[in-house]
Amino acid sequence: MTINYSEKIPNNVDLSGDRRLQRALENWQPKFLDWWKELGPDQSSELDVYLRTAVSVEKQGWAHFDYVKMPEYRWGIFLTPSDPNRKIDFGMHKGQPVWQEVPGEYRSELRRLIVTQGDTEPASVEQQRQLGKTCPSLYDLRNLFQVNVEEGRHLWAMVYLLQAYFGRDGREEAESLLERHSGDLNKPRILGAFNEKTSDWLSFFMFTYFTDRDGKFQLASLSESAFDPLSRSCRFMLTEEAHHMFVGESGVGRVIQRTCELMNEYKTYDVREYGGIDLPTLQKYLNFHFSVSTDLFGQEISTNAATYYNTSLKGRLDEAKIKDDHLLHDASYPVFEVREENIAKNESPALNAINERLRDDYIADCDLGIRRWNKIIENSGHDFRFHPEGSIISEEEWEKRCNEWLPSESDQSFVQSLMKPVTEPGKIAGWIAPPKGRINRQSFEFEYVRFN
Ligand SMILES: [Fe+2]
Ligand SMILES: [Fe+2]
Repeated sequence: MTINYSEKIPNNVDLSGDRRLQRALENWQPKFLDWWKELGPDQSSELDVYLRTAVSVEKQGWAHFDYVKMPEYRWGIFLTPSDPNRKIDFGMHKGQPVWQEVPGEYRSELRRLIVTQGDTEPASVEQQRQLGKTCPSLYDLRNLFQVNVEEGRHLWAMVYLLQAYFGRDGREEAESLLERHSGDLNKPRILGAFNEKTSDWLSFFMFTYFTDRDGKFQLASLSESAFDPLSRSCRFMLTEEAHHMFVGESGVGRVIQRTCELMNEYKTYDVREYGGIDLPTLQKYLNFHFSVSTDLFGQEISTNAATYYNTSLKGRLDEAKIKDDHLLHDASYPVFEVREENIAKNESPALNAINERLRDDYIADCDLGIRRWNKIIENSGHDFRFHPEGSIISEEEWEKRCNEWLPSESDQSFVQSLMKPVTEPGKIAGWIAPPKGRINRQSFEFEYVRFN
């Protein structure tokens, strides 16, 4: 089904055929816009930004590029087309047709899954609110705003599900998604990583590499859900998520590239005085973002995760491609556990280890990009290795040594000191290399954002 852009809320779900739902969403729309103006990108409402907008949900050619003022972005509701033959791939309902409505007995679990996912979307926009003021180039500024408007759309995707399928509690949850705020002491966002600050661009690139990738894995396992509207929403969100991770991988890669150039030019590892970010500091930022992101996968052994799987609500990554019975009653999965003085692998019931398995898949996926980053260092003629030993340490030793592993206050203020805005087309900050890729075939010199 094509997207109807003549409506107030663009959609491919035949919204005008359901007046009650249409009214509920039209009622929520101004609240969303108020939130965007208050907690979205700061001082950005007058900028013309070269953004892509979804015009079709088909694989080919779904994006349209043009200058848009962000508050006028056409946020809407787009689901991947339905497959009338889709069957449930896992859990106790395996083999049955997928559900078009929410079964009463799973209502609260499904609502919780949708709210938890939905909460992360506006959270990251809030976290990135101030970054526009210190962009390293117009190209990067445009990418930041693209990520922001798409996270806003992901919120729409989850709010649609809540309003369409969960009645009054759904409407209340939709309101709460705009009332909790990242880092707010009284009403924080649900998950820890989404209450951290993203106050500099190195953190932003690490965030989009590691934390948006958590999003990819959560969406991928929710796209296996027996609740078909959730599955179809997540499938379309995944197409947008890919760009966010590209921004992260290429962003960090360009910082490394620049650091290596400075190392070669000045024959030193200590590139700070030449305006670069030294590799040990990059490593510490990576350690931090990787750690808070792996934490998002939840407890290693989790009865909630077992229930979600067992009741066919949330699957594993690429469920259909895994060669087993997709019930997991008798299967085991190795999980690291702390035993007295050391950490050992322990065979655990696979159903309870669903979170851990997804985390392992995530770590393997992170590793691919890290290898490409290491290649940049290697290609510049350097050998840089870092080995955290993986042994158990005391609280005391942690306090004493944490600045060796995580960004210290002085590391952070150094990185912050480099954050000076560069807004002339074709120019770039000194701590990052220009991109190799293009946006919609436009070169780096293109005026991606117009200041009026
Ligand atoms: Fe998202
Ligand atoms: Fe994202």
